[in-house]
Amino acid sequence: MSKVLLIGNGAREHAIAAALARANVELHAHMNKMNPGIAALATSTSINTLMDREKLPDLTGFDYAVIGPEAPLSVGISDYLENQGIPCVAPLQRCAKIEISKAFAREVIQKAAKHANPQYAIVRSLDGIQKFEDKVGVENIVVKPDGLTGGKGVKIFGEHLTSRTDVENYAAEEITKHGIVILEEKLVGTEFTVQSFVDGKDLKFMPLVRDYKRAYDNDEGPNTGSMGSYSCENHELSYVTNNDLASAKKIMKSVVKEIKKRTQYEYKGILYGQFMKTETGPKVIEFNARFGDPEAMNVLSLLDTSMDEVCLSIIDGKLITPKFEQKATVCVYVVPEGYPGPDVMKDQPIRLGENIQAELYYASVYERDDVVYTTGSRSIGVLGKGSSLKDAGEVAYDSVKKITGKVRYRTDIAKDAI
Ligand code: AMP
Ligand code: GLY
Repeated sequence: MSKVLLIGNGAREHAIAAALARANVELHAHMNKMNPGIAALATSTSINTLMDREKLPDLTGFDYAVIGPEAPLSVGISDYLENQGIPCVAPLQRCAKIEISKAFAREVIQKAAKHANPQYAIVRSLDGIQKFEDKVGVENIVVKPDGLTGGKGVKIFGEHLTSRTDVENYAAEEITKHGIVILEEKLVGTEFTVQSFVDGKDLKFMPLVRDYKRAYDNDEGPNTGSMGSYSCENHELSYVTNNDLASAKKIMKSVVKEIKKRTQYEYKGILYGQFMKTETGPKVIEFNARFGDPEAMNVLSLLDTSMDEVCLSIIDGKLITPKFEQKATVCVYVVPEGYPGPDVMKDQPIRLGENIQAELYYASVYERDDVVYTTGSRSIGVLGKGSSLKDAGEVAYDSVKKITGKVRYRTDIAKDAI
């Protein structure tokens, strides 16, 4: 039986824990904050910051580690564990730069699959900002900081920025902070997510997922960590053609090769590609060095191969082909009222109700006397499965309606596709 260390404490890690538990591993969960869902599946837990190597407890004696979030990768936790003799189902810090640094990502794509990049510029001065504005038109600009921002640092003209002065002020602010800023042409189209397992050379792809990032129905309101997602029983998405998918997969394979070329190290773990289906084919919005949240729930709940065997095959560099159930999934995030905003309803009890058919994945909640409470972040991922998207949606929403308290959710996840 494998002894596995799981790092992270969100709903994504709850889904990873559930997949590992189904594979009968002995699970130790190391978390920033106690996640009651993960704790219930683990043999043992430890709580401490994930971000400080000095504060990590003794994490030796594991067959391997799975690292869920990007933050520990950005401070070198995978390098630290590998040095301790614990192989990781996660890339080393230098390879995880594909997520951590948007400038690195654009440069890698430029070399590996130029056609998948929007027009972009990595600039260091006001002059550089203005040159790019003149080139693509200020109304077509997206400004991205060169670091991890939890999806909240990206500012788009027409939404967060409404004038040339806005663009220049925000971009200049980022240059002051980080020395550089990334300016991109705004991509227009529909987004889709492609996740893959990677063993250094080979990639095996998971069912496609559509993610809904906006806070309110009809894609209104600010970007959030995501409010929900869906995947279809044939593992495809109706608006993504075979050509689009083949192109996206080829881009991801080329990127893995290019990372090896640049860093001399193989990329292992999960590679997440977020694409925009544009009129001229799929283009990359961003890469992540981890599963998506909520996309992890869509795919891992369908995983029909032992997650332990998949992880071991990644570590050994002999990736097996994982199987996924031919079912559709709809994931709806239950969030505190007021999320995402300053008046979010923290420390409120959530009542789960009776006969919930969906799978529940705890995100940011805590438990006291068997009652689950909200924090300032997303609370529970509610995952419905079914033989069609319609069935999966019904399972998810029937269950969501039974979850009460000072919480809310989007009512239109997968509605356009159903
Ligand atoms: P990111 O942190 O890169 O995922 O960006 C957050 C969100 O901003 C993405 O999910 C997209 O919806 C949007 N976004 C990022 N880059 C672009 C782009 N070049 N064109 C259009 N939208 C973008
Ligand atoms: N669902 C988007 C992300 O995990 O980054």
